[in-house]
Amino acid sequence: MADLKLVNVEKAYGEVKVLANINLDIKQGELIVFVGPSGCGKSTLLRMIAGLERITGGTLEIDGTLVNDVPPAQRGIAMVFQSYALYPHMTVRENMEFALKIAKKSKDEIAAGVDKAARILQLTPYLDRLPKALSGGQRQRVAIGRAIVRDPKVYLFDEPLSNLDAALRVATRIEIAQLKEQMPESTMIYVTHDQVEAMTLASRIVVLAGGGISQVGSPLQLYERPENEFVAQFIGSPAMNLLAGEVVETGPMTVIRLEGGGTARSAIPTQVSDLGMKVNIGVRPEDLVETMDQAIFTGEVEITEALGEVTLLYFKRQGEAAQVVAKLPGIHAGLRHRSVALTADPGKVHLFHKGRSLLYRH
Ligand SMILES: Nc1ncnc2c1ncn2[C@@H]1O[C@H](COP(=O)(O)OP(=O)(O)OP(=O)(O)O)[C@@H](O)[C@H]1O
Ligand SMILES: [Mg+2]
Repeated sequence: MADLKLVNVEKAYGEVKVLANINLDIKQGELIVFVGPSGCGKSTLLRMIAGLERITGGTLEIDGTLVNDVPPAQRGIAMVFQSYALYPHMTVRENMEFALKIAKKSKDEIAAGVDKAARILQLTPYLDRLPKALSGGQRQRVAIGRAIVRDPKVYLFDEPLSNLDAALRVATRIEIAQLKEQMPESTMIYVTHDQVEAMTLASRIVVLAGGGISQVGSPLQLYERPENEFVAQFIGSPAMNLLAGEVVETGPMTVIRLEGGGTARSAIPTQVSDLGMKVNIGVRPEDLVETMDQAIFTGEVEITEALGEVTLLYFKRQGEAAQVVAKLPGIHAGLRHRSVALTADPGKVHLFHKGRSLLYRH
């Protein structure tokens, strides 16, 4: 089981730099989740850690040893892919044994390894079946089992659940959380597009964007204290609303006059020298509440989506500004085409200047 250290890691394909300045310390036992838009380099970074892709700059250490040039098989890493490609003519047991046989382990070792993995993954009843006689979720568990039997130092998962249907994803996600609980010492890196997977599984989330790391933090750090507008809008769904305005009062409570006509108060402190500063306020749809008093935003509801537990309100666009979305708890019939005024607790109003959060400027 292992610590990982990435220092100034970069990846270039010829002239094109896909990733640069990747600095990351991963401690043993962590479950790190990589998220980011499609094409931002998540798989590439994972494959460099696995040794399947050459590192074109910087260093990668596993447990203090430089491994840039160590071949994949000797890094002590097991990777589980989205398309898990089990051997169709082999039983579940044979699929899981395969890597151990290649590694010339003894019969007893192989049997013990497979039995243990099957127990952890609740695959014992299926050991003699062929993959075609398993559900998608069970097949994905066999793929994870093939990784576990090798007893790797580090597990890498590249969107392992994205081929599963919604219900199976939830069930398998919970199984992965339980798997991690049973192997607290194991280090895992997990790539996903799924917000809920990222938020629920991660000890820390790494947001990749624009060829680098945008922010690293616990799921709630990223949700409550995003460093920049990108992370603010990437984490959380629907995305955080951003509204342009100008600072008109400074101090422990900052007052912002918004271009759309509203007024916002933010608990993020500002100084006298910030008066007149152009900012974007950020407020999450779920933090907006209806108000009779001073509103941050007033608009006509264009579309509503009633999800039962919450109702989403999509407001008519005002000029060039992005569409404002609010998420109100419960059922709200008849709001469509009505004018609604919204505000938010000052503690939930984020402030960004030139894309960066004012929380982090010192
Ligand atoms: N062999 C290659 N030559 C040139 N560019 C490549 C090569 N392989 C990948 N890329 C580029 O590297 C970038 C990162 O790709 P990568 O597969 O890591 O993205 P990703 O974040 O995993 O995306 P997704 O979420 O869609 O899986 C992409 O812009 C891709 O076009
Ligand atoms: Mg990918």
